[in-house]
Formats: sequence, C-alpha cells, structure tokens
Amino acid sequence: MIALKIITLFPEFFDGPLRAGLMGKAIESGIIALEVMDLRDFSEDRLRRCDDYPYGGGSGMVLTPGPLFRAIRAARTPRTRVILTTPAGRLLTQDLVKELSGEAELCIVCGRYEGVDQRVIDRCIDDEISVGDYVLSGGEYAALIIADAVARYVPGFMGNAESLVDESFADGLLEYPQYTRPAEYEGMQVPEVLLSGHHGNVAAWRRDQRIEKTRRLRPDVYSNYLMRNNRGNDHGSHQGD
Ligand code: ADE
Repeated sequence: MIALKIITLFPEFFDGPLRAGLMGKAIESGIIALEVMDLRDFSEDRLRRCDDYPYGGGSGMVLTPGPLFRAIRAARTPRTRVILTTPAGRLLTQDLVKELSGEAELCIVCGRYEGVDQRVIDRCIDDEISVGDYVLSGGEYAALIIADAVARYVPGFMGNAESLVDESFADGLLEYPQYTRPAEYEGMQVPEVLLSGHHGNVAAWRRDQRIEKTRRLRPDVYSNYLMRNNRGNDHGSHQGD
C-alpha cells in the first residue's frame, strides 16, 4: 500500500491512464491511495493563476511559489517524500524506482512551463527527477511514468511477482528475447535450444543473450553491470556466469 498524491495544473490529464489496467485495479482495491490535487485550488488569484513572468527576463512562464507552497504543505505528512518532475532532475532508474516504492507516501509535483520558482525547490522538494534526457511538454507525462514504475513494486500490484525478478534491469541487464508459437514464422525459426526442454541450456542461452543484447544496445548499462560484478576487465567471456 502506498499513498500517492499528484499536484498538477491539469488534474483531468490523469483520468484516463490511471483508471486503466493494473493501475485502475490497484486504486479500486486500495493498494494505491491516489489523490490528484488541482494546483489552481491553492491559488489566491482571482483568476486562479499559478504562473508569472521570470525575473531577469527570458521566455515562458514560471510557476509561482504561493500555490505550490500551500499545495505541498496540504499534501505533506511527516512520512511524505516530495518529488518534482523536471528535465533538470536526477535520472529515473530502476534502482531509484525501487527506492521510491519503499516510501509510505509520495507526492509528485508536476513541473510546467519554463520552470518552478527556485524557492519551492529549495524549501519543499526532496528530489528533482527526470524520466529521460529529452524535454516533455509537461511534467504530467513524467509523473505517470514514475507512478506506474513505482506501483509495480507495491505488493499486490502485479499478478505475477516473478516477472519483477526476471525483467530488464532487475539485475543490471536487459531482458532476453522471447518467443511463442508458431515455432516457424515466415521462414524464421525459434532458436532450437528453446524447443529442447533442457532447462539448464535454456537458462544459459538466456543469460548469454541478455549480456550480448545489453552490450550491443546499452553500453552504459553494460559497463555498470561489469563494474557491479567486479569484472571491469572482462571483455566477453561469460563462462561461469
Ligand atoms: N518535464 C519535461 N520534461 C521532463 C523530463 N524529461 N522528465 C521529467 N519531467 C519533465
């Protein structure tokens, strides 16, 4: 069970995605207590504005401190970790996802426009998190990604907890390729070893595939894997893995 609060200028954004699929079920069954908070409710402006021009000039608008301070204070309890979504944050990784899933309460503040007044970050935010090195039109997309990735680690969320162990990044490698029927499709064969029924050989093949795939597609992940496993000078022999 985790309490998840999302502070946003666009609460309706979350209606569809958080109601669908496993997330919808988890919210209905109470595994995830979700509250979407409308930042405009905390504005004291007649027009419910929450943004203003940046001091010093520059393009775009900046979220003002008042509504955010009030919204975060309303959301926070002593057990809350408050996150701001921003492309200038720490990169979301599976390790960070796991860490966040251990929190009792998460509050995700969706960044907007050109940014957020720095005093909010200095005083109210525990972590600034980016979901990747690209810029989205709003922090809501990032909040969805964080919420979904974290929810998967909440006990009871996943039907099959084993898939958490097997999946990409679980131990620092990408996932192995999967095949299902038919055994031949348009001349392409399923690798023989998978049809052999030999569990040991299947496991060894999958492990080799994971290592090869990670090295080819994600050299950054691969070198982390080597370092974690204290094998910095191993350039390809996987014997004894
Ligand atoms: N807001 C805009 N781009 C973002 C990103 N990459 N991660 C988190 N929040 C964002």
